[in-house]
Amino acid sequence: MSANEKPAIGVIGVGWVGLVTAACFAELGHGVVAVDIDEHKIEILRSGGTLPIHEPGLPELVERNRERLRFTTEIGEVLDACPLLFCCVDTPPTYSGDADLSRVEAVVAQIQDGGEQALVMKSTVPAGTGLAIRRRKPELAYVSCPEFLKEGTAVEDFLHPDRVVIGADPGSDWAADAVADAYAPLGGQPVRTDVASAEMIKLASNAFLATKISFINEIANVCEEVGADVTEVARGMGLDERIGPKFLKAGIGWGGSCFGKDTIALKKLAGNTGYHFQLLSAVIDVNELQKRRVVGKLKQHLGSLTGRRIALLGLAFKPNTDDMRDAASLVLASRLRGEGADVRAYDPIAEQRARELLPEVEISDSPLAAIDGADAAILVTEWPEFAELDWEQMARRMTTPLLVDGRNFLDPARLRAAGFTYEGIGRPADGGEAEAST
Ligand code: UGA
Repeated sequence: MSANEKPAIGVIGVGWVGLVTAACFAELGHGVVAVDIDEHKIEILRSGGTLPIHEPGLPELVERNRERLRFTTEIGEVLDACPLLFCCVDTPPTYSGDADLSRVEAVVAQIQDGGEQALVMKSTVPAGTGLAIRRRKPELAYVSCPEFLKEGTAVEDFLHPDRVVIGADPGSDWAADAVADAYAPLGGQPVRTDVASAEMIKLASNAFLATKISFINEIANVCEEVGADVTEVARGMGLDERIGPKFLKAGIGWGGSCFGKDTIALKKLAGNTGYHFQLLSAVIDVNELQKRRVVGKLKQHLGSLTGRRIALLGLAFKPNTDDMRDAASLVLASRLRGEGADVRAYDPIAEQRARELLPEVEISDSPLAAIDGADAAILVTEWPEFAELDWEQMARRMTTPLLVDGRNFLDPARLRAAGFTYEGIGRPADGGEAEAST
């Protein structure tokens, strides 16, 4: 390596976090070797085919940096070439709710104790994992560097971090310095700490964000009882700097691969030590119930849902991703089918995944086709294109122009003017605004 050549970076596990990490470090000028056991995925990445995940900006980044990005299925190639090994394998929940660390363990097993490399843990692991790994490999340089990127804005989040958390215990300082150097050009606030605290920062951050959402969802449910509008309440609350405006959007609950898994993992982690994390239990319960409340709203208008046709607009767990892991749409579709309803759905990107996951749902190729002849529509994902729809035409094509806006995304006045009976989450029902203003 010449004096100004940047050290090569190894990425183990080419999922969402791994691929974004690899592409972004290549963008910063590092040579990157990324390894995954999935031969098919590596073949696609090598051949320049369509990326296995939908993430805005990522295809361009991978293409632009192709000469600095090497994809392989041989972990030996990574171990030989790279002093920093970013572990980005997934840690799904086990039957007990604990994180499944088997993929992390498989990586650790292949790294030599006391070798030249440092293991940088980006996978979300329970607090105590780093300590356990170093008990087994005391000479292994180990850094906890949790990831805070969001799907849909992952590239942007990686390149413009709020903070970069770097946890290392005595003996791994050189590795912590090297990780700090790698992130320095991005300018995020560095947080140097010990390994266990870094691990807890990640879990606590996700748990807190999930708590904020469940909290505002409960406020929304109370707003419905007292005739208040939760979007106004959140606006007023969010201006308090101590509270802040983000993650105060009420709706049909959080989904995705992280909040569900990480809140349960933190609850179990606490439980395994004998501590009952009551607040987190409530946060999880509230979220489960929130997804189901929409069915109650439909029944209030339509009575029995047996034989009714219900359209779902959006299926991904949030916009700008095709990810449907833990998406509210999965619970909603099953509940509606359980009530005897006939369910049709449209999503601009997640169509392929939806066909696999929801075989009993008819997937339409346009919003208009999805709502044609429907008794009600539910806006599940706030895709920007839904704001631009011709809602007058949509209303005319439905049997009953009833819309439940599960994300409070649309303008109630506009929808009502288009002929809809509009219901949001925690917003005054039809006639409520008129009553409030008289
Ligand atoms: C989340 C965290 O935001 C990231 O910081 C973290 O790195 C990531 O998990 C992870 O651990 O990998 P992500 O799951 O991609 O990111 O998505 P979010 O943008 O956080 O949204 C999660 C869910 O909450 C979505 O279903 C979204 O619709 C919902 N949400 C979000 C609300 O219902 N209300 C809000 O105000 C915000």
